[in-house]
Amino acid sequence: MLTDKVEKALNGQINAELYSAYLYLAMAAHFEQGDLPGFANWMRVQAQEEQFHAMKIYDFILERGGKIVLSAIEAPASTWKSPVDVLKATLEHEQKVTGLINDLVYLARDQKDNATEIFLQWFVNEQVEEEDSASKILGQLKMIEGSPQALFLLDRELGQRIFTPPAAEGAA
Ligand code: FEO
Repeated sequence: MLTDKVEKALNGQINAELYSAYLYLAMAAHFEQGDLPGFANWMRVQAQEEQFHAMKIYDFILERGGKIVLSAIEAPASTWKSPVDVLKATLEHEQKVTGLINDLVYLARDQKDNATEIFLQWFVNEQVEEEDSASKILGQLKMIEGSPQALFLLDRELGQRIFTPPAAEGAA
């Protein structure tokens, strides 16, 4: 059984993950319109990952006999000044999500809910990767600023990303 507080907070995290998916879809569209299809692809995959995160929490709530209560998803921004700005916003967003996940861990601990605390460890690790990948692309973008050729090559590289759901044992 989940306590009311943990159930409410996990439902809130479903909303935060779906908002993340919305944000990355908005960024994907922004890149499509800016003729950077590789960056757009990277953002589309990012949005798929976020939906996966939301469903992972959704399934966990149900598995624990909890109630799913979905709430309205805030509208994301739709334009950014430059690719660097988009990746800055991505990194800042992931840092914010890391904070949310940490707060959830502290709440689960406070509520003596070991199962939720252990479940959340997957997200703790995932956030390390999320911040790292956004930070790497941001670093590369800053390095190549002013070089359309290098931007073209980075775009090609980001176009290779595909969504691979984590292995069954990691997704349990
Ligand atoms: Fe669901 Fe990007 O963290």
